[in-house]
Amino acid sequence: MSSELDALLRENRLFPPSEDLIKASNIQKWMERYGINDYDQLIMRAQDDPEWFWDELARELEWFQPYTDVLKWDPPHAEWFSGGKFNITYNALDRHVKTWRKNKVAYIWEGESGQVVKLTYHDLYVRVNQMANALRSLGVGKGDRVSIYLPMILELPVAMLACAKIGAVHSVVFSGFWAKAFQERANDAQVKVAITVDGFYRRGKVIPLKENVDEVLDGIPSLKHLIVVQHAGCPVQMKSGRDFWWDDITQEQEKECAAEVMDSEDPLFILYTSGTTGKPKGVVHIHGGYAVGTYTTLKFVFDIKDEDIWWCAADIGWITGHSYIVYAPLIMGATSVMYEGAPNYPQPDRLWKMIEDYGVNVFYTAPTTIRMFMKYGEKWPQKHDLTSLRLLGSVGEPINPEAWIWYHKHIGNRQCPIMDTWWQTETGMHLITPLPITSLKPGSTVKPFPTVKADVVDDAGESITEGGGHLVIKTPWPSMFRTLYHDQERYVEAYWSRFPGLYLSGDVARVDQDGYFWIQGREDDVLNVAGHRISTAEVESALVSHVKVAEAAVVGKPDQIKGEEIFSYVTLKEGYNPSPKLKHHLREHVRKEIGPVASPAYIGFVEDLPKTRSGKIMRRVIKAKVKGEDVGDITTLANPEAVEGLDHAL
Ligand code: WTA
Repeated sequence: MSSELDALLRENRLFPPSEDLIKASNIQKWMERYGINDYDQLIMRAQDDPEWFWDELARELEWFQPYTDVLKWDPPHAEWFSGGKFNITYNALDRHVKTWRKNKVAYIWEGESGQVVKLTYHDLYVRVNQMANALRSLGVGKGDRVSIYLPMILELPVAMLACAKIGAVHSVVFSGFWAKAFQERANDAQVKVAITVDGFYRRGKVIPLKENVDEVLDGIPSLKHLIVVQHAGCPVQMKSGRDFWWDDITQEQEKECAAEVMDSEDPLFILYTSGTTGKPKGVVHIHGGYAVGTYTTLKFVFDIKDEDIWWCAADIGWITGHSYIVYAPLIMGATSVMYEGAPNYPQPDRLWKMIEDYGVNVFYTAPTTIRMFMKYGEKWPQKHDLTSLRLLGSVGEPINPEAWIWYHKHIGNRQCPIMDTWWQTETGMHLITPLPITSLKPGSTVKPFPTVKADVVDDAGESITEGGGHLVIKTPWPSMFRTLYHDQERYVEAYWSRFPGLYLSGDVARVDQDGYFWIQGREDDVLNVAGHRISTAEVESALVSHVKVAEAAVVGKPDQIKGEEIFSYVTLKEGYNPSPKLKHHLREHVRKEIGPVASPAYIGFVEDLPKTRSGKIMRRVIKAKVKGEDVGDITTLANPEAVEGLDHAL
């Protein structure tokens, strides 16, 4: 372990933000307006009167008709801003083209091969209106579902915003999924129209998406039309009467389109996410509260100012992209960077080069990406001037302190606080997160966002202050999901039945003596070894903190005596080779970091770990392998060959 990290873990050092950063922050200015002196007072006041807090922020948006109630809460059903008439696209675009932001850049888009397109708010407004009119011409109206199966090209946000403008419900399917996954989701949502692309680039290769889609279209009986974006120029077959080119169907359309006047609680989108069973859950978000919650968190957590360049380097196919590439930044009137391709293509400095080229001020990514770049080494970011950065962000999984320190030092130049934001597809917005005015501890997501009451409870639902437990949320928040699409029963069963009235996140967490939250991972990633609750994420973090380890995956193997044994697979950094001695060192290392009980019974060295296309390690597959069970469906894996690789671990 580096001596710096070593010192850090021992000291439990706090990283306070600079006075300048605090003074200039949106949250500080907002607090001053209300005579609130510090963070603790803010939390107290917001906890005391959540409706005051959200009412004040909702008023910053434009309502066609004001709401009559801020919140109606009949657990587990919440209504926010009920009685209000609203449209999220109107707030993201129409509201700005009436102001000086008309000619402000909304998106700086960069293709994988380097071409750049800049779209202003007005450009985007016109494109969205034309697409919205095109959808209406195909018979799509309020409440109809539209499937969007597009890569990271500008037509993706345009399509989403166009659906929302006319009150249709979009369901984006990540373009890295196989067409079967698209078919399953399109059928669940009973979509009328789908939007896809001829092909797109990934690592210089063209992925022929339309051709893949053609194989499953007959299996989607509700589908009437398919709109195809021309992007890669690869040959496709168009079925007359059913398929239309995006350009053909939009270019003759009117450039104005009146927004559908929606109820605050009307559905905006369905986004499918994985659950404990194999069937994806159709998480439903709505117009009003979702807009207010995502807008507020982007403004206060990432502190976006009008002159900032914001880059959320996620894929729009996930909730992070829905909330923080599309809706929240546009509602704020921000300028966002959007990138089509792989982060390490053609070289491991692609992201750092783009930060320099565009002068990015706030950058948001996932720990898996950070660890990948750690593996390449700091020589890559060192080639670039990253001094435009003011704040960094992390999301998606627990960030191990070593990756946190690397990110802080080599990307943030020791100047940029890291907003480690905990949230989920279901929560829509950040729920447990630092603010630019809070001190940080590497690996902790700090504290609940103002008004949010989060807690850690034992199996009986009682608050606990020692050790890990179930992470629950005790009060509603505006951008919470409202249901699972046509599966109200599963909504109640999966999230609200274990502890009635409390939202069960499915994560395990611990709260320290300062009230800081430490997310330990998913419940099903938690092992019980000889009566000790051990988070796979913690063991992984310990393994990864060893200088020679790049990545680690830890799963449990049932054991008659211990309950479970810890099995681990690791990849090594460049220049290091597997050896029995290294295995021994790693066991000793984990023993030292967490305790003997956490030392893995088995360590296997592999070239690559099986991962989803969003970069998450697929433990389900590793677990099945370790137990000698069938690995099941691996179509959503980015690297199916890694599964075989587990058999040949050294
Ligand atoms: C995990 C992504 C630790 C967690 C926005 C959660 C995190 C799941 C963090 C949701 C974080 C997300 N620290 N773990 N900062 N953020 N997670 O639905 O297990 O794709 O339940 O939403 O990711 O993943 P989802």
